[in-house]
Amino acid sequence: MANDALLIKHTGTGKEVEYPLTKAVLGAETVDMRGLYRDFGCFSYDPGYMITASCKSAITYIDGDRGILLYRGYPIEQLAEHCDFMEVAYLLLKGELPNKDQLREFNLEIADRSIIHEALRKFFDGFHYDAHPMAMLVGVVGSLAAFYHREMDVKNPEHRWLCATRLIGKLSTIAAASYRHSIGRPFVYPRMDLSYCENFLNMMFSRSAQIYIDQDHYIDPFLVKALNLLFILHADHEQNASTSTVRLAGSTGANPYACIAAGIAALWGPAHGGANEAVLNMLAQIGTAANVPKFIAKAKDPNDTFRLMGFGHRVYKNFDPRATIIRKTCYEVLSRSQTNDPMFELALSLEEQALKDPYFIERKLYPNVDFYSGIIYKALSIPVDMFTVMFAIARTTGWVAHWYEMMDEPATPIGRPRQLYVGPARRDFVPIYQR
Ligand code: CMC
Repeated sequence: MANDALLIKHTGTGKEVEYPLTKAVLGAETVDMRGLYRDFGCFSYDPGYMITASCKSAITYIDGDRGILLYRGYPIEQLAEHCDFMEVAYLLLKGELPNKDQLREFNLEIADRSIIHEALRKFFDGFHYDAHPMAMLVGVVGSLAAFYHREMDVKNPEHRWLCATRLIGKLSTIAAASYRHSIGRPFVYPRMDLSYCENFLNMMFSRSAQIYIDQDHYIDPFLVKALNLLFILHADHEQNASTSTVRLAGSTGANPYACIAAGIAALWGPAHGGANEAVLNMLAQIGTAANVPKFIAKAKDPNDTFRLMGFGHRVYKNFDPRATIIRKTCYEVLSRSQTNDPMFELALSLEEQALKDPYFIERKLYPNVDFYSGIIYKALSIPVDMFTVMFAIARTTGWVAHWYEMMDEPATPIGRPRQLYVGPARRDFVPIYQR
């Protein structure tokens, strides 16, 4: 057998076939099993895609056992410490960090694209005041497809770039508009003179004094820095559920705005991006540190559906490097704002007790990125039902980068998994009067 192949033997027929192994730059090598059905007449069964590499990608690398996350090769810790969110967005899209001129141009382009069509803005009038902001986000982002369909040849690099920058620019505007609608305040237009994060905070809180140092002029740079950090940490995470959804939708050649709306829908679930909102709701439900053991017992009970939200990850089985950074930032943000948030104390107590518990140790369940992010968002005055929207703003850069990468390939096969059919075998129709 060649060194770089995997030998598969059918124990019934004795037939053996070698499947080629491909080395990855980092991480596990992959076996190309596309010939399996041809050779053996069987499919591979992998619900949840636990061991299936669905594509080749050069964007993000995760080593779940060692708690490593790299964007285009750069460790997340270095990017989080030194970069602006737009620098990271550029890196994800283009593959290299921008120089000064490139970054200035990119910032201008994103700011220029952040304005939304007045007709799109009016879509918000159709939503009830208490609509969940994620519901509005899915709807309004999907509706961008109705505005931008003419210059939408997905194989044309100029069209693709336009679409990528539009999505990044408009997401924060649409997100802030969904919040303004929910509180019955007028929409705030984006400003060209503000950075991406400042602009978002301004569109959210204009004139409401949560974020201003100097009346309503000077946005607190400390809060901008914290938001910038959260956006960087959430920007991409390789083939997660929402990114895979964007890729699957994109593989059909669908309008990219509709593909991103599909990603937003997938992100919303509590097992994915909805976890940050679920964590705060869970902490509120736990109430005090005295109740922590009771809830840990519930999480361990196989007959109880309760899970510790913000704990566990499909890939990270040691620690989530993003959670480590966020935990430290939590301390900084809360001590800076001199807020003694009881939620943070409760979260620390829950973390401490869970990490000592054999159930969590054996299953390698650690706090993930969402365990602490909500506490920072809360300190930034972001309402709980906007938490997943915040995740979506940041992750749009990753979704767009993956969609872009996929469209750059000469040919993209339509995503079309097979199944293990367990329904009735063939049977004949029986007329209704005989049933
Ligand atoms: N609380 C209690 N038990 C858990 C938890 C949890 N949060 N997570 C996993 N387990 C248990 C699970 O019951 C199972 O136990 P057993 O082996 O006895 O059946 C074992 O650990 C393995 O769990 P799994 O569901 O097979 O693991 P998975 O890789 O399919 O799920 C997960 C990963 C993130 C969906 C899951 O850990 C979870 O539901 N966590 C809570 C939700 C959450 O915080 N999601 C945010 C993920 S990070 C943000 C993002 O990237 O989207």
